[in-house]
Order: sequence, then C-alpha cells, then structure tokens
Amino acid sequence: MVSLKKGLFVTFEGGEGAGKSTQLRLLADSLRARGYEVLTTREPGGSPGAEAVRHVLLSGAAESFGVRMEAILFAAARSDHVEEVIRPSLDKGIIVLCDRFMDSSRVYQGITGNLEQSFVESLERVAIDGVVPDRTVIFDLPASVGLERAQRRAGDDNPDRFEKEQLETHEKRRDAFLDIARRDSERCRVVDATQPVEAIAAEVLSLVEALLPHGDGTDTSAEEAVS
Ligand SMILES: Nc1ncnc2c1ncn2[C@@H]1O[C@H](COP(=O)(O)OP(=O)(O)O)[C@@H](O)[C@H]1O
Ligand SMILES: [Mg+2]
Repeated sequence: MVSLKKGLFVTFEGGEGAGKSTQLRLLADSLRARGYEVLTTREPGGSPGAEAVRHVLLSGAAESFGVRMEAILFAAARSDHVEEVIRPSLDKGIIVLCDRFMDSSRVYQGITGNLEQSFVESLERVAIDGVVPDRTVIFDLPASVGLERAQRRAGDDNPDRFEKEQLETHEKRRDAFLDIARRDSERCRVVDATQPVEAIAAEVLSLVEALLPHGDGTDTSAEEAVS
C-alpha cells in the first residue's frame, strides 16, 4: 500500500447528471489499483449524523422552512461529515474523494437560493473548519444534457428536491460553478463532461495524479508492483 504523509482531499462538483458519481467510482478504482488507500463519500451525508439530515434535505421536507433553514442543515451535516469522517481520514494519509462539497452550497443555496454571500461564507467557515479540498473537479455540461441523463439513470424516476427545478435554474448553476473555477483556479479544474466516460476518467486521473508525491519519501514499490 502506498502511504501518504497527509491525505489528499478531492471533491467532485457540477450539475445533476454531469457524471460526478460515475467518475468518482472510476477514479477510486484507478487509485486503488495503484496501491493508494481511498475513501469515497458524498454530500449531503457521508457520516451517520449527516445521512440522517440527508433525507430531510433531499425529500424536500425542509423546503417549506426556507432556504436559510436548508443552508444551516447542509452546514450541520457537513460539519459532522468533516469531523467524523473526512479530517480523520486525511490525518491517516488516506485519499478522500467526495461527491459534492462546499461549492454545491455556494451554488445551490448561495446563488440559486439567493442567500446573502456573507451568510453562506459564515456557514462554510464553521462547517469545513479549515478542511479545504486540495483539488475540486468541476464537471461541466449543458444543463439540459445533464438533466436528461439524470432522468434516464436507473432507479431515478422520482426527481429529488433539487433535480425538479427549472432548466433556467440549472443553467444558472452551471455558470456559478464556472465562476467559482475562474476565481479559484489553483484549487479547481473544469472538465468537459460531454466527452465519453473513458476520456473524462483519464483526464480526472491526470488532474489528481499531478498532486501525488513521486519518489519523495513515498514507497513507490507498491505502484510498480501493480502497473
Ligand atoms: N460521459 C458520459 N456520457 C454519457 N453518459 C454518462 C456519462 N457519464 C455518466 N453518464 C450517465 O449519466 C447518468 C448520470 O451520471 P452520474 O454519474 O450519476 O451523474 P451525477 O452523479 O453527476 O448526477 C448515469 O446514467 C451515467 O451512466
Ligand atoms: Mg451522483
């Protein structure tokens, strides 16, 4: 097993049906085949406390209480996920791949939820408490293509609270994710999510491999043994 001194935190962001979950699985497989210890997780959820809140959020049960309430619930779930799962894993040198994270809150609650930016920023600060992703891959595609894929996805005949919103809202989110990538070009990378699955997977792997140590105190024999 290749061990890292400190783990690597990679988040997957973008609209519905962009291929986040598909690519997360493929990246986990590729990294494990190279000998790395990988933890895959998702938001909202990822820890027992946060999974309990996930249902409330995605069923729409909290929608009638307003977007501030929803935003605080997302932050509560994120805080639990960070402290119970993400931070301890990173401290052990594990690579953590997370399906949606803080940028989804910036976009869904901040931009298309019309919440004040200062409120969203305050919640983010409390929720992540310094655990900022080392790399965020933003899967970009026209909202109509993503929604069509999401609708065709097996077992997805009941769109969740967010999937069922207007196309215009989804397009606004696409722009908001691209805006985040422009502002934080060190952390974020945008991938053209209309490409074939394998082409995207190769690109995502290269974006993450660029952050992994090569030969500087790391045991590379495990990498060589499996290649
Ligand atoms: N690059 C791609 N091209 C075509 N279809 C894709 C691609 N990536 C994923 N899909 C399909 O689109 C649907 C949504 O993908 P998924 O990974 O669940 O998206 P997300 O997690 O971003 O909502 C799935 O049925 C998946 O098999
Ligand atoms: Mg998904």
